[in-house]
Amino acid sequence: MNLPISTPRLLLRLPTEADLPGYLSYRNETATLEAQMMKAVDEQDARSFLQSQSGVVGIKYGWRMLSVELSDAVGIIGEVGVFVSDENSEQGDLGWWLHPDHRKKGYAFEAVTSFVHWCFTEYRLHRLTAHTLSANLDSRNLMSKLGMRLESETIRSVRRNGRWHDEVGYAILREEWQLRKR
Ligand SMILES: CC(C)(COP(=O)(O)OP(=O)(O)OC[C@H]1O[C@@H](n2cnc3c(N)ncnc32)[C@H](O)[C@@H]1OP(=O)(O)O)[C@@H](O)C(=O)NCCC(=O)NCCS
Repeated sequence: MNLPISTPRLLLRLPTEADLPGYLSYRNETATLEAQMMKAVDEQDARSFLQSQSGVVGIKYGWRMLSVELSDAVGIIGEVGVFVSDENSEQGDLGWWLHPDHRKKGYAFEAVTSFVHWCFTEYRLHRLTAHTLSANLDSRNLMSKLGMRLESETIRSVRRNGRWHDEVGYAILREEWQLRKR
């Protein structure tokens, strides 16, 4: 696997244990947790996750998470990731998360664009999907800008905070991505 991935303003690299404070600061930031109705990540679980991911290089199945860092400053500002299931190893489900201080600067689009390219070229995936709550407009905006197609909206299908929420699913095929790049 060809890592790290460099973009004009960012570095996407394997996570390390030193990422723990930065990881917890964006993952457990109150406003985003409230908006997404998600629970805070436990510190020990976060440490174990980063440890497990720092050793993953050429895996075929499971999570492949990369830390996002500014090219000119050390320290994690967010993450991109893909989940590949062992039952469907040619497809991946994308995820992303940036610290609020680094949103609305185009960093998420820059990071995910390179990561999608990497998934299609290095992982040789056939199809990438992404899912989010229908109300998560920033994430949906990113999916649309990537050229992903809205393929599903499932009504009251995700239960969070004791309430049901709608979820959207977007997708893009490798050949669609390659055409988009021309
Ligand atoms: C989803 C998320 C990653 C999107 O981040 P973001 O910073 O809004 O996304 P982008 O990188 O696409 O940047 C968006 C805006 O930056 C602005 N921007 C500012 N400077 C820019 C630049 N130099 N280049 C490009 N865009 C720039 C653009 O106006 C753009 O808005 P537009 O697409 O309406 O034109 C972020 O909201 C997040 O981390 N949310 C919490 C976690 C989450 O919800 N994850 C998904 C769970 S499924």
